[in-house]
Amino acid sequence: MRLSRFFLPILKETPKEAEIVSHRLMLRAGMLRQEAAGIYAWLPLGLRVLKKIEQIVREEQNRAGAIECLMPTLQLADLWRESGRYDAYGPEMLRITDRHKRELLYGPTNEEMITEIFRSYVRSYKNLPLNLYHIQWKFRDEQRPRFGVMRGREFLMKDAYSFDIDEAAARKSYNRMFVAYLRTFARMGLKAIPMRAETGPIGGDLSHEFIVLADTGESGVFCDSDVLNLPVPGDDVDYDGDLTAIIKQWTSVYAATEDVHDAERFEREVPAEKKLNTRGIEVGQIFYFGTKYSDKMKALVAGPDGVDAPIHGGSYGVGVSRLVGAIIEACHDENGIKWPEAVAPFRAAILNLKQGAADTDAACEALYKELSAKGVDVLYDDTDQRAGGKFATADLIGIPWQILVGPKGLADGTVELKRRADGSRENVTPAEAVARLTT
Ligand SMILES: Nc1ncnc2c1ncn2[C@@H]1O[C@H](COP(=O)(O)OP(=O)(O)O)[C@@H](O)[C@H]1O
Ligand SMILES: [Mg+2]
Repeated sequence: MRLSRFFLPILKETPKEAEIVSHRLMLRAGMLRQEAAGIYAWLPLGLRVLKKIEQIVREEQNRAGAIECLMPTLQLADLWRESGRYDAYGPEMLRITDRHKRELLYGPTNEEMITEIFRSYVRSYKNLPLNLYHIQWKFRDEQRPRFGVMRGREFLMKDAYSFDIDEAAARKSYNRMFVAYLRTFARMGLKAIPMRAETGPIGGDLSHEFIVLADTGESGVFCDSDVLNLPVPGDDVDYDGDLTAIIKQWTSVYAATEDVHDAERFEREVPAEKKLNTRGIEVGQIFYFGTKYSDKMKALVAGPDGVDAPIHGGSYGVGVSRLVGAIIEACHDENGIKWPEAVAPFRAAILNLKQGAADTDAACEALYKELSAKGVDVLYDDTDQRAGGKFATADLIGIPWQILVGPKGLADGTVELKRRADGSRENVTPAEAVARLTT
């Protein structure tokens, strides 16, 4: 992509309305535009990151055996009356009436709809376990939308729903999602710690929140610092095998949100120097809720004995749009964003430090063509901004690799390869720069 033809509305001023660094940087970097409180337009740079995150979430869900579908954003109120949540959900639910006076709502979550789909088709334990997920926009009319994409009213969520014949099988499904979440967040360059959590309006008795530690987070948390160094399962993890050893390792070290914090246990189990009481960002939450929805909505399957019984369910959310903010909170410096490579909007930027000079123009064009041909997502800053402005833009938008092409270096046959993560620079030939970015 040539920057001169891209749409990157960088803000010079720091927006006053933004209270936390991720929100400020998303606005300044031209990723996002607020259209109403908690409702945003994703501009091209922001959308690229959102799609990268979404794809990692998708790949890890698929790897763990969940199956993608897509449910609508609008749902019938009657479906929610069946579970009793239409009234219980309260003012957070956006209620809509169509021209035929039918009551609809913009879905805040999908337990009811997925249960309705399930019960229409599945009758036998032989079709279980089943885990269906989608990645879809949700709406919750939050009392206080704030911090940009962190607490929006409209936001993108991955929500998966598992169906099992009994509690033992449902716990296995829960464990698969637990492990998938460990892998998902690690692939994005995040340390997200599973912490025991309250179940809230979803219901049920077993739940973990996955929390990225950050002072700006909305959740108070308590944990043993050892939990920060536990190993994340590799891509050879066997989801059909026994995952209990992994779950045990991660859940035997103390980690809990303040809502379910057990001060006595914390005191007893965690040595003073390992006690962490801090704040964090909830990037995902998983629930096992048993027969809460299947009882009310009559989602029954025949067991091996031929007797119908309500299925045991769980639901598993990831805040896809919130993750964009959470990653920035974890990865930035005073100059801007430092995207982990896996989620970066572009892998590399070419900075032509003397636009219009024959040698730099030719070298940049050649690099741009070659990198593009080799499948590297590259942004070529071919604008007539001064070098200082180009450095500032590339740092602000956080591209992991910058190739600085200036007349001095070119005279020696070199360009400068700069790594955004640590600021390190190296003089290399253009061919070496290409080789680095393609191997
Ligand atoms: N208002 C919001 N804005 C952005 N992301 C949200 C919002 N509410 C929830 N999420 C994300 O969706 C995930 C699943 O939501 P869930 O746990 O059902 O919501 P809550 O944490 O509000 O009970 C959360 O872990 C969080 O990452
Ligand atoms: Mg939650």
